[in-house]
Amino acid sequence: MFNLFKKSSVAASKSRDWGFVQTDIHSHILPGIDDGAQNIEDSLKLVESMYKHGYRKMVATPHSSEDIYPNDTATILARRDLLREAVLKEGIDMQIEAAAEYMIDERFVKMVESGEQMLTIHENRVLVEMSYLLESPYLHNGLFALQTHGYQPILAHPERYNFYHNSLEKYDELKEKGCLFQLNLIAFSGYYGKHVKKVASYLFEKGMYDYVGSDIHHIRHTNALHSVLQSKIMSELIEYPFINGNISL
Ligand SMILES: [Fe+2]
Repeated sequence: MFNLFKKSSVAASKSRDWGFVQTDIHSHILPGIDDGAQNIEDSLKLVESMYKHGYRKMVATPHSSEDIYPNDTATILARRDLLREAVLKEGIDMQIEAAAEYMIDERFVKMVESGEQMLTIHENRVLVEMSYLLESPYLHNGLFALQTHGYQPILAHPERYNFYHNSLEKYDELKEKGCLFQLNLIAFSGYYGKHVKKVASYLFEKGMYDYVGSDIHHIRHTNALHSVLQSKIMSELIEYPFINGNISL
């Protein structure tokens, strides 16, 4: 189905040296479970593209929210197993793991407070998100609940929260509350618009990011990622303190 042995592009071969992006910690590659891959063919196209760009391990992080995507551990792990099987069958050398991108809503706070085992990116790190339109009313309770239950929150794509763009001090407050930040690499391609790119640059220059991820949903995202992987930001990321620290292949 896929020609994995076709000579890859210059960018792809270069990216293999970037150990810190060999693992992707944020993606929507599980089939038919959220707004990412809609079926196993979509999933395999995304995995194949990431393989060609030097990635060797992907943590699938489907949305998990009260309203639109009520995914739980059982539904997520079942789709992970489906994808693992398909990747193996296609002979793609990619390790597939699964966690979730939890929406910080009422359901999330209840899950954490009830002591439910959360799916983690690695160790005790839990990926969380908010709506792009307004700060979650459950944000501070959610962060507090996570930390009191032994987890550390990673806030997905802080650069995408428009409501913070004119209140940059909010980012400092979140870091002070123990939140780690994950950059969506394609923000630097301008994919989400110039304001998001500008805030990503601001947070990057301030050294506020702890993780990078692709957040790929479809092949347009991998195309945007391709342009970022060829840009000079990648050589700056090599020097970046502790990015994607402690994640090994
Ligand atoms: Fe995401």
